[in-house]
Amino acid sequence: KQYTALLPAAGIGSRMQASLPKQYLRLGEQTILETTAKVFLSHPAIKNLIIVLHPNDTWFYQLPLAKDGRINTVVGGDERADSVLAGLKAAKQDEWILVHDAARPCITQSDISKLISAVEQQQCGGILATQVRDTMKRGADGKIAQTVSREQLWHALTPQMFKVKQLKDNIQNALLTGTAITDEASAMEWANCPVSLVTGRSDNIKVTCPEDLALAKWFISQQQNEEEI
Ligand code: CTP
Ligand code: MG
Repeated sequence: KQYTALLPAAGIGSRMQASLPKQYLRLGEQTILETTAKVFLSHPAIKNLIIVLHPNDTWFYQLPLAKDGRINTVVGGDERADSVLAGLKAAKQDEWILVHDAARPCITQSDISKLISAVEQQQCGGILATQVRDTMKRGADGKIAQTVSREQLWHALTPQMFKVKQLKDNIQNALLTGTAITDEASAMEWANCPVSLVTGRSDNIKVTCPEDLALAKWFISQQQNEEEI
């Protein structure tokens, strides 16, 4: 079976403090967005990509990637949820979709496969996630108020895999009620649909701050070594 992937890439990357949006920064030969898109396009279970772009994007159509016939682009919105919603409206409504941050270029083929096989028989969907490793503290006024048990705490990663229509309706309705939707799973939680946690690799980082660029390069070079072993 083959699936569509949706890459929100309409952000401005304010925390990256670069002169252009972070998805267009280079990781060696190619940009972050190209790196991410190519992992999906070369996966046998992915048939096409919807990439969500900023209304003022002037970079995407300069990339060789833009000529790939399996890619559709749509214009995004102010918040990530608005951008995802725009992408979902352009997707086939009765199918599963994998939503993945363009800013996570270290995603691997094997984690995409793992998510798909864990989720495709389910009702609500699921996400890649990693268990929290550090001791977690709740802070108040710069002092520790409490240690929070990490037993039940996970980092939500992407891709996140859901049925298009269900996800679209839940995001729309949750936004109408003023609920904060920071990832796809939060819209499904709002609708009380139980979302599966699928353990993913901890190198699937979101490039967010300047120091993450070197880290992402390193992780990708290590993944290439793993393939050669
Ligand atoms: N994104 C989007 N539309 C938005 C905001 C974010 O499509 N209105 C995308 C980003 O391009 C990125 C992903 O969602 O691929 C995750 O968002 P984030 O890491 O927060 O990226 P930015 O919003 O661009 O960065 P920042 O928050 O530092 O400004
Ligand atoms: Mg952001």
